[in-house]
Amino acid sequence: MTASGLSTTGLTKSFGGVRAVDGATVAFHHGKVNALIGPNGSGKTTFFNCVTGMIKPDAGTASYRGRDITGKAPHRIARAGIGRSFQLCRIFPRLTVLENMLVSVRTSSLLGKLISARQSADVDRARELLARVGIDHLEHAEARDLSYGQQKLLELAGVLMADPETIMLDEPAGGVNPALIDRIGKLVRSLNAEGKTFLIVEHNMDMVMSLSDHVVVFDRGRPIAEGTPAEVQEDPRVLEAYLGV
Ligand SMILES: Nc1ncnc2c1ncn2[C@@H]1O[C@H](COP(=O)(O)OP(=O)(O)OP(=O)(O)O)[C@@H](O)[C@H]1O
Ligand SMILES: [Mg+2]
Repeated sequence: MTASGLSTTGLTKSFGGVRAVDGATVAFHHGKVNALIGPNGSGKTTFFNCVTGMIKPDAGTASYRGRDITGKAPHRIARAGIGRSFQLCRIFPRLTVLENMLVSVRTSSLLGKLISARQSADVDRARELLARVGIDHLEHAEARDLSYGQQKLLELAGVLMADPETIMLDEPAGGVNPALIDRIGKLVRSLNAEGKTFLIVEHNMDMVMSLSDHVVVFDRGRPIAEGTPAEVQEDPRVLEAYLGV
């Protein structure tokens, strides 16, 4: 179960004197909805960045499906089956919703994508995914005119374009209104039922507790507790990390 999914051993990344990720050894449950929680600054985003190749770790290893992915380039990790979203939504504000979907498939140049967009088979898939996340009626709108929650749905739909087997979401509910949080939760559930593995960083505890099969709690750059939502909620180490006592 755990061995075949995403795992790290002794993963470490420092910024100057700050050990953002500090010897993190953790295995996520393949096929499940995993949550990664922890106080602000506990290293969750840096951990994501190390695992997805955005930054190179100083030490330690990351593996996925039995393959070493440590320090590999982002496109290679994406090709291995891992897709991700960003804490601060990454979209192209002046492109339309549909154009954003097409440029998220980074198989040729941006210009080439835009020119061939109308004939491309990707368009059908893009429309299908926009409908799935509930923003297909906005396909011709510029992305900057969408609400923040709609932009997050667009980013999620863009991640799905590559059909990743594992999806890492960094604060999908952050700054999003309750109706759209509910929609994101339902999407995660239905995608998981279709076999997608999730790893979700999130501060919204209602979402984490209702959605996750497995929760890993970070403090100061490494896991301090893990288990089912019920187990971690009762763990005194978790309370201590959040309250700083
Ligand atoms: N590029 C950077 N340069 C310098 N310090 C950084 C950088 N990125 C992160 N840090 C520091 O590393 C630590 C971990 O930050 P990180 O963003 O990974 O935490 P986080 O758990 O994602 O926090 P949050 O819940 O607030 O998003 C913090 O002390 C942060 O200030
Ligand atoms: Mg973060």
